[in-house]
Amino acid sequence: MKESKSLHEKTVIVALDAADQRQALALADTLDPSRCRLKVGKELFTAAGPAVVEALQAKQFEVFLDLKFHDIPNTVAGACRVVRALGVWMLTVHASGGRAMMQAAREAVGEDVNLVGVTVLTSLDAEALRATGVERPLEAQVSALAADACHAGLDGVVCSAHEAERLRAALGPAPLLVTPGIRPAGVDAGDQARVMTPARAVAAGASYLVVGRAITQASDPARALDDIIQSLEVS
Ligand code: C5P
Repeated sequence: MKESKSLHEKTVIVALDAADQRQALALADTLDPSRCRLKVGKELFTAAGPAVVEALQAKQFEVFLDLKFHDIPNTVAGACRVVRALGVWMLTVHASGGRAMMQAAREAVGEDVNLVGVTVLTSLDAEALRATGVERPLEAQVSALAADACHAGLDGVVCSAHEAERLRAALGPAPLLVTPGIRPAGVDAGDQARVMTPARAVAAGASYLVVGRAITQASDPARALDDIIQSLEVS
């Protein structure tokens, strides 16, 4: 379909939200590792363990291990050393775990793994956040945790595309902004409350787009991925 390598060839991270390894690998087989990266989350990793990561890597995919670590620094560092040995491309920790935890994670994964922080879970609204004891407004909490993550040496944060513009302005050009909640125009939003098209998210400052169902539930996932990449090229 394309003659030349495109700028956005690997901007898209496909969320492999499968329940087991067989399902995950079948889905991966519909995709081209030179066109996207894959996200393995808690469900798939709990079901299939490091073997699924290794199987995806054997198929030449770079893996984003979305395990959102949050524990005492020593425990997180131990887990991060294991992740480093697995050779994943990206890993998440919770920024609310604190600066010492994030610094320990950074030291443990080294520089080869892109380490990004989760700020405030998008499932929490202002009231739910207040109920956890956080008094400042939600946006201020997101900004503070994002700045904290960068100060601790993380490579960036996971955020809603709707927060990308503000965070990009506050943090500058260097940090990675990884944004879920992406829906191409005309695709059902599902359970995501605030969605954005791929092109608008990149224009807002997103570095990588996490796309799940818009690709994985499409009748032709490779075609759905191509359409997204193309929408980024023309924008
Ligand atoms: O199917 P969909 O594109 O909504 O999937 C988005 C992926 O990003 C899922 O794996 C979901 O768990 C994840 N995610 C999210 N919102 C966040 C963090 C992660 O949708 N704030």
